Amino acid sequence: MRKEHDVGFGLESLPPDGKKRRMDVTFSGGETIGLADDWSLDVLHVPGHSHGHQALYDRKHKAVYASDALRDRGCPKVDGSMGIPITYYDVDVYPSILRYFESLDLDGFYSGQFPAMQGEETKNFISESRKTVELFDRVILRELGRHPEGLTLEQLIETVANAVGDWPRDT
Ligand SMILES: [Fe+2]
Repeated sequence: MRKEHDVGFGLESLPPDGKKRRMDVTFSGGETIGLADDWSLDVLHVPGHSHGHQALYDRKHKAVYASDALRDRGCPKVDGSMGIPITYYDVDVYPSILRYFESLDLDGFYSGQFPAMQGEETKNFISESRKTVELFDRVILRELGRHPEGLTLEQLIETVANAVGDWPRDT
């Protein structure tokens, strides 16, 4: 990506990845983890943000632990302002994952980048995440329609960034 389009991160910015470790247990989605006789977690396969992304769904408490599976318009800084733009690597799958989350009976939502959410906050967050990618699709298709000769990835990102409005320029 960096070499072809001059966008994204270079290898020089990657942190050390530590020693290799053997995994004793792995999941692929569809498993159930029992916590008590009346309490279990469903392992969900929810790619989009990343390939193979997984989340844990607690039906008993109507809660999901999703890490980065849903991204709103981007990740906030500690002060609530926009930190970095949304990232999702599978643009065809991500919208269907958003609709899947909307179909779950949910109250609590726990992610890796956003404060814990409950009730309407959860519903609004998922809905806003879906509306965001729908906006991106509209903006990108409109812009490509205006430029039949094509646009670079950097130009498309610029167009989407202008439509969103609050992505920091250096990200
Ligand atoms: Fe992530």
